Amino acid sequence: MSGELSPIDKAKFVAAKRAVDFVEDGMRVGMGTGSTAAWMVRCLGELVREEGLNITAVPTSTRTAELARDEGIKVVSLDEAKWLDITIDGADEYDAHLNLIKGGGGALLQEKIVATASDRMVVIADISKQVETLGAFPLPVEVIPFGWKTSKALVEETLVGMDVLGRETSLRMNGESAYITDEGNYILDLHLKRIADPHQLGYVLNQIPGVVENGLFVDICDTVVIGFGDGKVEVRDINNGTVEESQFDFVDSDNLFADLED
Ligand code: 5RP
Repeated sequence: MSGELSPIDKAKFVAAKRAVDFVEDGMRVGMGTGSTAAWMVRCLGELVREEGLNITAVPTSTRTAELARDEGIKVVSLDEAKWLDITIDGADEYDAHLNLIKGGGGALLQEKIVATASDRMVVIADISKQVETLGAFPLPVEVIPFGWKTSKALVEETLVGMDVLGRETSLRMNGESAYITDEGNYILDLHLKRIADPHQLGYVLNQIPGVVENGLFVDICDTVVIGFGDGKVEVRDINNGTVEESQFDFVDSDNLFADLED
């Protein structure tokens, strides 16, 4: 497999591979969305099929639900599961406090609900997602289609009073049409460059009529598992302040997921 994957994909894979060690038999697992999360779903699928791991999954998008089912993982709704033991998801940015920007893949609403309904949120990411200050990645804000231009104008007005470096906003597109989320909403991407106070901004954005949710995950993530292209993995836990390192050996796993393209 190592010959077929780019360094960035190796980094995503090793982060996912290490993170599934946190999943125990009988757990209810929240499954994130995106290319890194997809590796996690495949790793868990392998454990389910080959080692009889018994888990119940709550996916955060139709894409992830489909992949999980294809992998032979039992999928239920959050309402059926009620509460989750762990959620494993990717991120677009994480800072030293493990505050996140999420939603690059458009699934921030279900992702935030599922992560918040979990005892533990584990983020899996390659090292390129690490930032000193959040905001270089455009902040996704989910808005309802009704009156979205008014919501956009209100968001822009609100940003004037916020400690951010940029204030440009754009409607996320899918070709010629607006991108539509799983809930039938639109996404505004906020090009802020630097977010001095993610907690305040996240709170204020959610007060605007028409805004459903924003992609700032503040005080939600417990652990980040960081993958590197050479197979190194670092696990940082914000609650106990620990940092652990390990090394994944690609040679021993040559045929793992060999038939998959990401
Ligand atoms: C989807 C997300 C993803 O977790 C985020 O965009 C990271 O994706 P990837 O692992 O593909 O880089 O928030 O809404």
